Amino acid sequence: MTREPENTGSSDALVRFDNVRKSFRTARGRRQQALDGFSMSIPRGSIVGLLGPNGSGKTTALKTLLGLVRPDSGTVHAFGHPLPQDQRHVAGRMGALIEGPAFNASLTGEHNLRLIGELHGAGAAEVSEVLELVGIAHAARRAYSGYSLGMKQRLGVAGALISGPELLVLDEPMNGLDPEAVRDMRELLKRLRDERGMTVVVSSHILAEVELVSDWVTIVRNGRVICDAGISELISRGTEHLVVRLHDTVAERAVAILERNGHTLTRTAGPRGTDELRMAAPQPPAYAPDVLKLLTSQDVYPRELLVEAVSLEDIYVAAVRAADAAAKDVSLDHR
Ligand SMILES: Nc1ncnc2c1ncn2[C@@H]1O[C@H](COP(=O)(O)OP(=O)(O)OP(=O)(O)O)[C@@H](O)[C@H]1O
Ligand SMILES: [Mg+2]
Repeated sequence: MTREPENTGSSDALVRFDNVRKSFRTARGRRQQALDGFSMSIPRGSIVGLLGPNGSGKTTALKTLLGLVRPDSGTVHAFGHPLPQDQRHVAGRMGALIEGPAFNASLTGEHNLRLIGELHGAGAAEVSEVLELVGIAHAARRAYSGYSLGMKQRLGVAGALISGPELLVLDEPMNGLDPEAVRDMRELLKRLRDERGMTVVVSSHILAEVELVSDWVTIVRNGRVICDAGISELISRGTEHLVVRLHDTVAERAVAILERNGHTLTRTAGPRGTDELRMAAPQPPAYAPDVLKLLTSQDVYPRELLVEAVSLEDIYVAAVRAADAAAKDVSLDHR
């Protein structure tokens, strides 16, 4: 089941960023605008995917939430508290893994967690519980230095969970994980949401990593949010396509027949000597029999008819292009 929480900025938003700006001074003395009017909210009980290319400001945004970076202007609220003024009131309610885990290499995973746990009043039982939860209980007594990258990431998530947070903040937790471990991580995040009512924000620069787990997607580029929407709303913004795959020798005729009958299509090379004719259609499954009938009535027999699902990747690319085009317009206006 996909939950679609309202992201209206009501009290259901656990976190709100409003027009946050933050610049850093680079080594060459120039100013780098990391957040440039960044606004987003995190709906309670949801998994939010914070997506954006390298350097777009994801880590900086998450750091402002954790009190690790102080905004130049704008406001950040978590659990209704203004940050960073009220950071200490909310610190215990958030667990975070930012820019990779930092553990003592010579200690075991369990020992490392015990040390973190002490800061939060968590004991051996909680340590065992989180180790179990992230699936590395079997390696609890091994030295951290011998952990694989995936095990280190999992231990990092365990560290973020040890305080029993309501909000889990994970910066690129899937980095370096193999496909199976990425799937495990997704399952874990869903379990935390469903069984513990946790709210999760997870950043990534790879869409596919978070696409299958997020209820909500926030796309950031150049320090500002260019797209902020529920997954099903995003999907409904795209258009499905009906794809007719046929032998390339009959493609020409098929194109002529379809165009004569008012269909608009694009033609591309398909696999193994086929061509693919792609037609935008609001409801491709309903559309398919008519297309098939039309073609076969004129002795053109497709090999396959496929309904191409809307890909979030297309939507992502479209949002980035639209934002770039808008930015170009603004800079032209200012010349
Ligand atoms: N402490 C810092 N000093 C100087 N510049 C910084 C600092 N932190 C971030 N920046 C700059 O701010 C911009 C945003 O960086 P940030 O780390 O937030 O991006 P990101 O989206 O997390 O990127 P990535 O996907 O590579 O992790 C970048 O241009 C970065 O170089
Ligand atoms: Mg980052």
